[in-house]
Amino acid sequence: MIDPATVEICPSILSADFTRLGEQVREVAAAGARRLQIDVMDGTFVPNITMGAGIAEAVRRVTPLLIEAHLMIVRPELHIPDFAKAGADLIIVHQEATLHLHRTVEQIKGLGKQAGVALNPATSLSTLEEILEYVDLVLIMTVNPGFGGQAFIASMLPKLRRLRAMLDARGLTPLIEVDGGISPQTAPLVVAAGARVLVAGSAVYTPKQPVAAAMAALRASYDGVATV
Ligand code: DX5
Repeated sequence: MIDPATVEICPSILSADFTRLGEQVREVAAAGARRLQIDVMDGTFVPNITMGAGIAEAVRRVTPLLIEAHLMIVRPELHIPDFAKAGADLIIVHQEATLHLHRTVEQIKGLGKQAGVALNPATSLSTLEEILEYVDLVLIMTVNPGFGGQAFIASMLPKLRRLRAMLDARGLTPLIEVDGGISPQTAPLVVAAGARVLVAGSAVYTPKQPVAAAMAALRASYDGVATV
């Protein structure tokens, strides 16, 4: 059985109410979140433009939570210093977005930050074989990045299980994170498949229920899940 304390919900502010962002950050912290994610999009790597280092700096000012900067942008190496300076604790780059991934991961760590690498749904796990030992987190996208509220891609479950097996076989222990379409229906599936950090935007910041109730519902959904 999974110990639910070993699973983290990582609220994505993409779906937050930006007219009261500070309050929405405090709400997820009060509801037990230990980290949150800033979804950075450039309109080129993904079809949407969202937010930059200024939002990371503003969020840093209102919370001690661990801040993940998920850079869904081309040439992230040009912008990593800005997010490090803004106060991000963990910077995630896409394998597909940087030509020299080892150099980019070393750049992040050289700035004293944790490094994460993300894979889009169609990108093979094999592209990570040479970098796994250098990263603190691997993010398996369970939607095609660009927008909140998209449908979960169930064919990512075998990919999660293969990643878990790959890491276990090599004795590597980066966090396995998922992002996209995480809800009380899909959270138990990804946890059973090996995910331990669940990025959730529209399931947390939803008009259907308060943030605290939404996070409690997510937690309850995977409590008692058996590992595969
Ligand atoms: C990529 C974004 C979204 C967001 C989570 O599109 O990174 O995945 O964080 O969106 P939800 O939880 O609403 O699917």
